[in-house]
Amino acid sequence: MGQDGFSILILGAGKATRFKSAYPKLLHPLAGRLMGEYVLRAAVAAGAERVYMIIGHQAEAMRNAFARAGLQFIEQKEQLGTGHALMVARPELESCASGVAVALVGDVPKLQPETLRALVAAHSKERAACTILTMSVENPTGYGRIVRVGGKRVRAIVEEKLATATQKRIREVNTGILCFSRPALLDHLGELSRENIQKEYLLTDLIEIFNRHRLKVAAFQAPAGEAVGINDRAQLAEVGKQIFLSRAIHWMKEGVTLTDPETTYIDEEVVIGPDTVIEPGVSLRGGTRLGSGCRLEPHSTITDSVLEDGVTVRHSCVITNSRVGAGTAVGPFAHLRMGTAIGPEAKIGNFVEVKNSTLGQGSKAQHLAYLGDATVGARTNIGAGTITCNYDGEKKNPTTIGDDVFIGSGNMLVAPVRVGDGSYTAAGSTITQDVPPESLAIERGPQVNKQGWALKRKKLKSMARK
Ligand code: UD1
Ligand code: CA
Repeated sequence: MGQDGFSILILGAGKATRFKSAYPKLLHPLAGRLMGEYVLRAAVAAGAERVYMIIGHQAEAMRNAFARAGLQFIEQKEQLGTGHALMVARPELESCASGVAVALVGDVPKLQPETLRALVAAHSKERAACTILTMSVENPTGYGRIVRVGGKRVRAIVEEKLATATQKRIREVNTGILCFSRPALLDHLGELSRENIQKEYLLTDLIEIFNRHRLKVAAFQAPAGEAVGINDRAQLAEVGKQIFLSRAIHWMKEGVTLTDPETTYIDEEVVIGPDTVIEPGVSLRGGTRLGSGCRLEPHSTITDSVLEDGVTVRHSCVITNSRVGAGTAVGPFAHLRMGTAIGPEAKIGNFVEVKNSTLGQGSKAQHLAYLGDATVGARTNIGAGTITCNYDGEKKNPTTIGDDVFIGSGNMLVAPVRVGDGSYTAAGSTITQDVPPESLAIERGPQVNKQGWALKRKKLKSMARK
C-alpha cells in the first residue's frame, strides 16, 4: 500500500430519479446480473487496495446484494450530490493509506478494469492532482462537458443543467470517473458548496476549485463506448443489448452457431461447447453449461442447468436446476425443474413437466405427463397423460418405477408407490398399490356396452317435443 496504490469509491447512494423506480439503480438487473455488480467487479479486478461503496437509498437492500470480503459500505443518509457522497466518506479517505482515490459512479457497467488501471497510471505519470476519465460521444446530453482553455488545459466540468448553449455543443464529456491524489482531495473537498441551480454538492466543481489553487488537472481518454452511463430505462435496455451481443460474439468465436446473436441472451458465467447451435430467443442463465453438438430451438430459457453433449431442446422449453444427459431430446413445450436428471438418450416430449425426478437411460415420457419426486429406471415408457400424484395435501411422496416398465396411458400413480422392473400397467389405471416385477396391473371398472341405448334416448326426446 502507499503512494502508488489506489482505492476506489463507488457512488451508489442515489435514488435513480430518472428510472422512476422504487429501487436504487444499482439493484436493477442488467444482462443477467445487478447493475452494481459490474463496477464492483471492475474495481476489484483493477487491483484497488480498498473498495468502498457509498450507499443511501435502500441501504439495507444494497448491503444484502453486494456484501463481500474486502468491500466497505459508507452510508450517505441524505443524498446531496456526488460531491457530498465523497464528503461523507471523509473519515475513510483520511484513514486509508492509498496515495490515490478514484471516485467511480455506479452506473457505468461497461467500464473495464484495464481502463481504471490506465487512468491511475496516467494520473501518476502526469503527477496531477486530479485526472478525469473523459470520452467523446455523438450525443453529450446528460453528461458534464469538459471545458478546456484554448483547447488544452481542462478548466472546468460543466453539468448539463448549468451549461451555456455553446458549452452544450461540446462532445468531450466527463465519464463520472475521477482520479484524485488523496491529500489534494482531502484538502479541498470542504470547499464544495450547494449554491448552484441543482442545489447539490457537485463532485465536478472540484475541477474549478483545483484550478483556482493551481493544482494540476489532467484528462485521460476512455476507449470509445466503454464508459457510457445509464440514467434511464431506455439506456438500460440499450446497454443490456450491447453486453449480450458482445457475449454472443465471444461464443461464436469459440465455435458456437447462433442463428440470431441479437436475440440470444447468454449470462456471463455460462459455458457452451463447440458445434452447438442456438436458435433465436434462447436465454441461457446463471451457471448453465452446454456440451458440444447440442441444438436449441427457439425461445427456451435454461437456468443453472447442465446439458451434456448432443442434447436437443425443442421449441419453448423451461429448464431450471436440472441435468440433461447426452443425446437426450426435450420438448417442445417441456418444463424440467428443481433437481431433475434425465437421460442419457432419453426423451421428454410436449407438455411434460418433470420436478425433482430422475429418468434413466433411454426412458421416455413423450406426451402430457407430470413426474414429480419420481425415480424412473432405464428403457421405461411413461404413457401419455400419466401423472404421479406426489402431493397428499401435506407432504410430497416418492414414486419409484423400475427398468423396462411400460406405464399405460392416463395412469394416476398415487405416491408413495413402486412399480417393479419389467412390469406393465393398463391404460387408465389409478395405481395405489406397489406392482411386483414382471406383472400387469389393471385398475379400472369393467366396461358395459348398453346396446341400443342411444336410439332409445333419441326416441324419448322426439316424443317429448310433440
Ligand atoms: C454524473 C456527473 C457528470 C458525468 C456523468 C457520467 C456529477 C455532478 N455529474 O452525472 O459530470 O458526465 O455522471 O455518467 O458528478 N450518487 C450518490 N450520492 C448522491 C448523488 C449521486 O452516491 O448524492 C451516485 C448515484 O447513485 C450514481 C452516481 O452517483 O451511481 C452518479 O449520479 P447520477 O445522478 O447518475 O449523475 P449524472 O447526472 O449521470
Ligand atoms: Ca449517471
